[in-house]
Formats: sequence, structure tokens, C-alpha cells
Amino acid sequence: VLTPGDKANVKALWSKVGSHLEEYGSETLERLFAVYPSTKTYFPHFDLHQGSAQVRGHGKKVLSALGDAVAHIDDIATALSKLSDLHAQTLRVDPVNFKLLNHCFLVVVAIHHPGALTPEVHVSLDKFLTAVATVLTSKYR
Ligand code: HEM
Repeated sequence: VLTPGDKANVKALWSKVGSHLEEYGSETLERLFAVYPSTKTYFPHFDLHQGSAQVRGHGKKVLSALGDAVAHIDDIATALSKLSDLHAQTLRVDPVNFKLLNHCFLVVVAIHHPGALTPEVHVSLDKFLTAVATVLTSKYR
């Protein structure tokens, strides 16, 4: 459960992340595809080379959706309801992949904002990303 302190930590962190959605999003996806190549199977229709316009565009979409979740942190399920339908019913992304994406995003945040990611903020961000993944995988069955 996200405590009031967790929510405040995530919102404060997002004030640093929100202006770099495309940069951090594409770095997250580049790491995801490089470190966990099986994740590439969901993107057979994408050009996955480094710096690809599709990866940049998609990275921005993913982080924008996370930003929506931050903005509606008290009701993430409603904010991401359509995306939840898409991932469960159309894309059928195996839930394990959400942990991998979350990990890569944490690494990107740590690289760009090492001072901000104290152990306490790390916990809050991890809990938030887990809550998002739970919503996006909640309609599988
Ligand atoms: C599409 C967000 C996790 C695979 C999307 C879109 C968004 C999004 C915003 C675009 C939807 C649209 O165009 O209407 C997220 C968020 C995630 C997440 C916030 C977790 C934090 C994943 C994971 C995978 C994945 C783990 C697989 C490894 C896809 C695919 C598409 C997609 C294949 C369609 C891409 C396309 O054809 O344009 N996602 N996603 N997503 N997502 Fe996710």
C-alpha cells in the first residue's frame, strides 16, 4: 500500500523526471531490450536499433502513462483502465516483463538522479511501479 509519504516521494521525484519523458523512456526501453532480449518478442514490428524513432516515441508514451499514474496516484486503476485492457486483452504481455521494465526504469532514474534516489525514495518508487504493474496485469483472468 502506498503511504502518504510514498505518494509525496513519488510526486517529488516526478518533478525531476517529467521533463525528460522521451529521453528516460527510450533509455529504459534500450536497457530492457539489451538486458532482457526476450522482451523484444513483443515488438516484432518495431525498429529496435539504438536511437530508433519508434523506440523514442514508445518510450515517451510509456513514461507519459506513468506520469498519468503519478497525477492520479490515489486511483491508478481508473487512470490506467484503458491501458490495462490493452495489455491484458490485446497485447497479452506476460506479467514477468513488467518487473523487468520497472527495474530498467529504476536504473535510469538512479543514473540521472543519484542524489534523489535515497533508499526511502527507492522503496516508494518501487512500490509505485509495482502498483502500476498490478493494474496493467489485473484483467488477465
Ligand atoms: C503499448 C504503457 C509495460 C508492451 C503501450 C502504450 C502505452 C504503454 C502508453 C501505448 C498505448 C497506445 O498506443 O494506445 C506501458 C506502461 C507499462 C508497460 C506504463 C508498465 C509500466 C509493457 C511491457 C511490455 C509492453 C512490460 C512488454 C515487454 C507493449 C506493446 C505495445 C504497448 C507491444 C504496443 C506497441 C505498438 O505497437 O505501438 N504500453 N506499458 N508494455 N506496450 Fe506497454
